Amino acid sequence: MHLAESGDPTALSAALRERFAERVGEPPTVVGRAPGRVNLIGEHTDYNAGLCLPVALPHATYAAARARADDRVRVASLQQDDGWEGTLDEAASAPGWAGYAAGVLWALREAGHAVPGVDLVVDSRVPLGAGLSSSAALECAVGAAAAGLLGLDLADEGVREALVAAGMRAETEVVGAPTGGMDQTVAVRGEAGHALLIDFGPGGGTTQVPLDLAGHTLLVTDTRVSHELVDGGYAARRADCEAAAAALGLDTLREATLEPVETLDDERVRRRATHIVTEIARVTATVAALEAGDWAEVGRLFDASHASMRDDFEISCPELDVAVAVAVEAGAVAARMTGGGFGGSSVAVVADERVDAVVRAVDAAFVREGFRSPVHLRAVPSDGAA
Ligand code: ADP
Ligand code: GAL
Repeated sequence: MHLAESGDPTALSAALRERFAERVGEPPTVVGRAPGRVNLIGEHTDYNAGLCLPVALPHATYAAARARADDRVRVASLQQDDGWEGTLDEAASAPGWAGYAAGVLWALREAGHAVPGVDLVVDSRVPLGAGLSSSAALECAVGAAAAGLLGLDLADEGVREALVAAGMRAETEVVGAPTGGMDQTVAVRGEAGHALLIDFGPGGGTTQVPLDLAGHTLLVTDTRVSHELVDGGYAARRADCEAAAAALGLDTLREATLEPVETLDDERVRRRATHIVTEIARVTATVAALEAGDWAEVGRLFDASHASMRDDFEISCPELDVAVAVAVEAGAVAARMTGGGFGGSSVAVVADERVDAVVRAVDAAFVREGFRSPVHLRAVPSDGAA
């Protein structure tokens, strides 16, 4: 069994300070931290002005930073061989992984903050490319570090908003992944012991939903099938959703109901829209079921969500289908794929005493199917950026 540990934040931060000092020649003045996330339900709903219900992970990215006297940005990652160096202007087109980090500094400066030149070294315990938002964790850790350098208070509502916005600009404009904002929002606003209900509709906002797991574990299984959000699948789903809204004469699918959706001519677009409309309803129902401690209902909702993503939205894959089905057979009360899809992770709610049995069953099934061995992690609901 491979279990990905989140590590001790104080120890990780201290070790990163040392690595920074070795590379840069001076110690960092600040270490920003932001978590990965697992979405409980509400997939591909964010860019449809819908609802979603993510949880911040204990697994986080750490960004050590020190201001420079010039306007140069130098970024390095303990997860990557190559670093990047350029000016704050050039950060707008930083290539590869550096786009997420340097892109945030550029976006904060575009928003009017007096961002200095910076040396940055990052380290992460969020599995990369596993559908657990290592990218947003990186953006928001860099944003938190920059806030520290600028003397901005992360408890301040305006500062939080600015970090979410800068992370989104880095991802959509610098990296070019047309994502919807769920990841940055929970990376900044997540709270220990809570899931975050995010309403992307007009006048929406965020609500902390207390998560009383009552003897259950949120078990995440990374299939290690890597998805690429810059690839076509995600953007194609987004385009289908926009086409559906346009055909219905609506701004977004948030305003749609099932009846008119069922009359859409294009069969593929109809199925995509069906997923969005039913998934948004499942988010509301899941919050109610969690509040009532009705795990059987959570199980039915996760099941319907997974089927909808597999059959109507077509973003699952054999590894995710096996991880979900086997977890339920082995005793999980609820399981579904999570995140953008085309690989990545599943999330299951498992009674504490069944966790080992579920992990063993999924591992054995992956061996039988000839899949890569999966990595599991315990998604203890944790705090956002600091
Ligand atoms: P996810 O966000 O689900 O992990 P993405 O494909 O959106 O997957 O983002 C993964 C990418 O983010 C990596 O390929 C890399 O470019 C970048 N990234 C994330 N974390 C780090 C890190 N600690 N160091 C360097 N790059 C990172
Ligand atoms: C993500 C993307 C989010 C959201 C999600 C699917 O990975 O970054 O914005 O759309 O896929 O729910």
